[in-house]
Amino acid sequence: MIQLKSESELERMRVAGRHVGDILVWLRGLVEPGITTAEIDRAAQRQIEQRKLESSFLGYGPRGAPPYPAVICTSVNEEIVHGIPGSRELKEGDVLKLDFGVIFEGFHGDSAVSIPVGAIDEKARGLLDATRRALYAGIEQMREGNRLGDVSSAIQCVAEGEGYSVVRDFVGHGIGRSLHEPPQVPNFGPPGRGPRLRVGMVLALEPMVNLGEAGVEILEDGWTATTIDDKLSSHFEHTVAITSHGPEILTRVSGSH
Ligand code: MF3
Ligand code: CO
Repeated sequence: MIQLKSESELERMRVAGRHVGDILVWLRGLVEPGITTAEIDRAAQRQIEQRKLESSFLGYGPRGAPPYPAVICTSVNEEIVHGIPGSRELKEGDVLKLDFGVIFEGFHGDSAVSIPVGAIDEKARGLLDATRRALYAGIEQMREGNRLGDVSSAIQCVAEGEGYSVVRDFVGHGIGRSLHEPPQVPNFGPPGRGPRLRVGMVLALEPMVNLGEAGVEILEDGWTATTIDDKLSSHFEHTVAITSHGPEILTRVSGSH
């Protein structure tokens, strides 16, 4: 059920992950008040072309949704995930979530980061910091012999321990030749349950954490997920391999989250 990657497959996933990390760092440098989310998408598209990669997201469309129309997801403030790039201009104090994936030689990499636009308030900073720490707490559990529930539980403990709520309608996932492979990786649940983790598994962990309630609403575009109370949401994601010497973060590069 859960695909184990060979060393040569993992080598290709490392390259895919490095491209994703490098491009996200590059895009992050473009984020400032006045830029539109469509401009960021076009910059991402140029990077994909220059590096001879393919987009993981463009044209993606399960569960009856219209095919995803961009190479990047740009979700602002109360938008949780899957925001579609457009003419919206970012402004000082916004929080932009960039979610990005590419295919290299048949293998996907997937990563997301929450980026402050200029100065953001203290409440927002606290949420972003806790979400990132929740992601790393999950990564730390990605060791042979642990169970998937140990990962989920570690993420939940950090996020809820800080007084935030964890989104339940979207989950992390296995990743490889497909963007989404088994298993689903919830950001909540009891430890000690679920499949055993093995060397060669590659998972995309992606906690989505809200300042207010956990509930989700989907906008009329069929994609954009927002919080039901319109309060701020935060999202961080890495693609991570389980190796014999512990977790290896494939989408982490110098300067990334
Ligand atoms: N990181 C998100 C996920 O794994 C990105 C999906 S965007 C989509 O679900 F366009 F592909 F839907
Ligand atoms: Co993902």
